[in-house]
Parts: sequence; structure tokens; C-alpha cells
Amino acid sequence: MAKQRLAAVVLAAGKGKRMRSSRPKALHALAGRPLIGHVLASLATLRPERSVVVIGPGMGELARAVAPIPCAIQRIPLGTGHATAQAARALAGFAGTILVLYADTPLIEVATLSRMLARRAAPDRPSVVVLGFRPADPTGYGRLIEETGGPPGALARIVEETDATDDERAIGLCNSGVMAVDAAHLFRLLRQVGRDNAKGEQYLTDIVALARAEGLGCAIEEGAAEELLGINSRAELARAEAAMQGRLRERAMEAGATLVDPATTYLSWDTRLGPDTVVGPCNFFGPGVVVEAGAEIRPFCHIEGARVGAGAVIGPFARLRPGARIGAGAHIGNFVEVKQARIGKGAKANHLTYIGDASVGEAANIGAGTITCNYDGFAKHLTRIGARSFIGSNTALVAPVKVGAGAVVGAGSVIVRNVGADSIAVARGEQTERKGAARALRRRYKARAAKRKG
Ligand code: UD1
Ligand code: CA
Repeated sequence: MAKQRLAAVVLAAGKGKRMRSSRPKALHALAGRPLIGHVLASLATLRPERSVVVIGPGMGELARAVAPIPCAIQRIPLGTGHATAQAARALAGFAGTILVLYADTPLIEVATLSRMLARRAAPDRPSVVVLGFRPADPTGYGRLIEETGGPPGALARIVEETDATDDERAIGLCNSGVMAVDAAHLFRLLRQVGRDNAKGEQYLTDIVALARAEGLGCAIEEGAAEELLGINSRAELARAEAAMQGRLRERAMEAGATLVDPATTYLSWDTRLGPDTVVGPCNFFGPGVVVEAGAEIRPFCHIEGARVGAGAVIGPFARLRPGARIGAGAHIGNFVEVKQARIGKGAKANHLTYIGDASVGEAANIGAGTITCNYDGFAKHLTRIGARSFIGSNTALVAPVKVGAGAVVGAGSVIVRNVGADSIAVARGEQTERKGAARALRRRYKARAAKRKG
């Protein structure tokens, strides 16, 4: 069978009223990536020849998020059919299958889309293939009305919930919104779609009845409900997030990571946990995190845009911000924050420390309370800490500054000038001592207090 030619339209122009948000719905995040990003990633695997995203006016941020995929603008949101029609110009002259996807249905997997395309290419060549599913609660979805007396899976029409009779509402088979349509018919059928319905909109779903009236074949392909939940409200977004988290956790465990408590491990779409990593309870992974083999993430860490080397130990209660690169076997302990900094192999910063815009050499020891003072209120400056150096507790390293390899910095120092390799630097007030002075002081204070009372 020759590979069928494929183009795609992704609808994202709806206002998303039920989200009660100033942002377009398609940009709301699911596992650290905009809803539409999930849809486009699945789509990209199928390598469509052309894709178009339909957006509303004033959705520049959305257009930037989907670039370089071109956008068509739907000036007024007159419904999903009207939205799809906006892609006509971008897809002019295309012959093959046009896949129509909704940005608010982000859990869909590539295998499901492939099955729809296979159905389109089956010997009976249906002109329209609609992806159906059976959600636990069908409220709000369009219902698929099967052809009476037709072969199994033959679709007669789609009725929206607001336009459905009680009998039609009792049908459990719903429209996911995803359609694979023969390009020869799609835009022609859309031109015939009217607005005589409860919402006064042009429904994409009406093309099914129109196609049937012309004798064109329409078929249902069924998909799993977990993949096809539509997101219209914040509550539905949260449910989709839970489903996505479940999927990501399963994948991480299959790849060899131990999640001690999967339910409290929050992953992003691109989190990579190497084999034999151990993730303790209550950890958050934002986008852009790679954890190499055998590393341990102890409980209550917040990690984003960071790489953790093999065998490193992070946390409990650590924060790794974008640009943190933790070397193999290094330790980053409680209440330590690392930002835009490279921590060498086997280096340790175990307590109460901020390391930002810095490099820390191999096997260096960063004492409790060490701070890189990287910001002067106007610009950020670099701190370089040499290999095997020892930075005493409560040291402030005022950047730009460099501590050489093997150097020792005394506790409580404020280091404003470079420290040479193997030097000892101490920058704090001298300690003085007056023998017996405390006893005299106490006597004086006691007498003063007695006089006040008396
Ligand atoms: C739609 C389907 C319904 C299906 C459900 C699945 C129609 C008429 N209804 O209903 O059968 O069960 O999805 O989740 O298609 N959009 C535009 N421009 C518009 C209107 C919508 O681009 O004028 C986009 C939205 O941004 C969204 C998608 O189309 O990504 C679906 O729109 P939405 O209003 O959420 O449709 P539903 O009421 O959920
Ligand atoms: Ca929807």
C-alpha cells in the first residue's frame, strides 16, 4: 500500500470561555508544556506534508509557540467547522488525507492517529474517519449516531449534546473531535455547513451527515477514553494532568527509575530519569531535566532545566534551577540552591547554600551557609571555585571572584579578591579576648538592675 499523503489542521482559535482565563486555552500547561505542544508533538511523528494551526485574533503568543508551523486566523469564533475552513487557503491544492485535531485534546497518542489513517486507507476507503470513544461521563460531548442496518462502525451523523434528543443523549459513543477526511471533499463539504443549531455555530461535525447525503463513506474508529478527554475547564485540565502524570510515571519506571511514591512525583513531558535512579517522595521536575544513572533525588526537591550526573545525591529539600549541571557523585544537600552553575565531580554543598553563576571544581567542599554574591543590583557576575578547595561555613564570595584549586577559605569570610591556589584566605574581624571580663560585666549589670528596682 502506498503511503498516504497527509496534511493537518489543528484548531486552537476558541476563546476557551470555560477556562475563565486571559490566556488562550491552547497555551495552558500540561506536564510543563502547552496543550497544543502535546498535540503537535504527536502529529510531528506522522510527518505531515503541511500543517496549519487555526488561531484567533490577538493570539500572537500562541503563534510564536507553534512556530515554524504556520497559523491561519479565524477572525470570529463561529464554530469548529468555520475554524477548519480557515485552513483552506494554506492547504489549497493538497490531495490526500487531512487530519483535523483539537488543541484541547492533548492526550492523544500517535498509535491512535496511525490507526485512523490505516482506517482511511482500508479497501472501502471511507471519505471521513471519526475517532470515537466511550468516556465514563459523556456529558458535553457530541454523540456518534451509527448507520441503522449498516456494517459495524458505519457513521450516519454526529449530534452535539445541546442539539440532541434524550434518546441520542443516552448514547455512550462520543466524538473525540479528531477526524481524518479526504482532502477532495473537506472544504467543499464545509461550505455547505449551516448555523441552524442550538449554538448558532458552524459545526465541523455536520460534514458527516453532508457526506452521507452524497453517498460518501463515513467510518468510526474507536480510541481509549484516557487519551481523548477534552479540556474545557480548569477541573478537566487537572484531570488531564493526572492522566498525563500517570503515563509519565509508568514510562519512567519502565525505563528503570525507582519512584518510591509515584503519586507524589511530578514529572514534565521531557523529564529523563536514567536507569537505577531513585526518586524519593514529593519531588517536582519542571521541564528540561536529565538525571543520569544511579543518581538519588531525596524527598522535597524542586528541579528544572538541570542535569544531574551519575550517582549524584540531591536533597532532601534542594532546589536546582535552570543551568545547574551537577557532576557525577556530587552532593547537593538541604536548602541548597544552584542556578546556572557547574558543580564538579564529587563536590559537596550539603547545607544552606546558594551557588549561582558559578563553577565549582571537582571534590571541592562548600561549607554550610556559603553564598555566591552574584548580583550587584545591575548585573550578574561569575564565581569560580577551584578543585579540592575548602570553603568554610558562612562565606560570602563577592563576584566576580576566583578561588584557586586546593585553597582554604576560613569560615565567616567575605571574599572580595581572588584567592591563589593552595592559599589560605581569611577575611573576618580578628578575635579578641579579655580574661575574666565577663565576670566583671555581670557584676556591673547586676548592681545596675538592683538599683533600678530599689
Ligand atoms: C467539540 C465537538 C464535540 C466533541 C468535543 C470533543 C464540535 C461542534 N463539537 O465540542 O462533538 O465531542 O469537541 O472534545 O466540533 N475552536 C476554534 N474555533 C471556534 C470554535 C472552536 O478554533 O470557533 C477550537 C477550540 O479552540 C478547540 C476546538 O476547536 O480547540 C474544540 O472547540 P470546543 O468549543 O472546545 O468544542 P466542544 O464544545 O468541546
Ligand atoms: Ca472542547
